[in-house]
Amino acid sequence: MNKFSILTIFPKMFESITKESILKRAIGKNLIDIELVDIRSFSKDKTHRIDRPPVGGGAGLIMQCQPIYDALKSVKKENSHVIILTPRGKTYTQEDARRLKDYEHLILIVGHYEGIDERIYRYADEEISIGDYILTGGEIAAMAIVDSISRLVPGVITSSSLDDESFDDNLLEYPQFAEPYDFLGDKVPSILYSGNHEAIAKYRKKKALDLTKEKRPDLYQKHVLTKEEKKILAAYEKEKVPKFEREALLKGQKFIKDKD
Ligand code: ADE
Repeated sequence: MNKFSILTIFPKMFESITKESILKRAIGKNLIDIELVDIRSFSKDKTHRIDRPPVGGGAGLIMQCQPIYDALKSVKKENSHVIILTPRGKTYTQEDARRLKDYEHLILIVGHYEGIDERIYRYADEEISIGDYILTGGEIAAMAIVDSISRLVPGVITSSSLDDESFDDNLLEYPQFAEPYDFLGDKVPSILYSGNHEAIAKYRKKKALDLTKEKRPDLYQKHVLTKEEKKILAAYEKEKVPKFEREALLKGQKFIKDKD
C-alpha cells in the first residue's frame, strides 16, 4: 500500500482525484491511501491565519512556518519521505515517478500564495516542480505527482498498460489506432491487421523512434539504440517497406479486403 499525506490549505481541491475514476477505485481497493491534512487546522493564531506579508517588504503573502511544521509533525513517521512542491524544485519526470513509487509513505507539502517561509525547506527530503511555469499553488502539482505514482502501483491499472510507455528508455510511445479502419479517408496502417506480432512490434518500434526524433529530439539524443533497434532502422534505410513488413502486409491486405 502506497500512502500519500498531502499537507494543504485547500483539501477539498483533491476531491477531483479522490472521488472520481481510477484513483477512487484504487483507494477503494486499498492499493493507495490519500490522507488530506488541512494546514490551517494547525494554526495557533486566534483567527486561524497561516500567512503573513514578507519580512522586508514585497508583494503577496508568505505561508508561515508554525502551521506547516506542526502539520508535518502530526503525520511524519520514520519511513516518511517529505517533498515540497515548488517552482524552484527539480523538474519532475517519469523516472521520478518510478523512483518515488518505492516509498511507502510520501508527504507532499503544498505551498500557496507567494510561497512558504524559507525555513521550512530544511524539513523536506526533496523539492519538486512540475514544469517551468508558475501555478497559483502547488495543489495541481501534487495531484499530478500522486496520479503519476499511483498508476504505477501494481493493480491500479492493467499491468500491460505499463508496457511500452512513453518515456521508457527515453522513447515516446508508438502511434495507436482504434476502429474504424477508415476515418474520413484516413486509414489504419494495414500491417496492424496482419496478425504478425513480430512484424507489428518492429513496425511500432520504428514509428516510436521516428516520432521521438520528430517531436522530442532532446529525448531522442538521450536514447541509446539497442542492437535490435539498429537492425530495424537499417532495414528501413535499405528499403522503404522492408521484407518483414511486405510479407506481413500481404496478410493484412487480405484482412482489409474482407473489411472493405
Ligand atoms: N507551485 C507553483 N508552481 C509550481 C510548479 N510549477 N511546480 C510545483 N509547484 C508549484
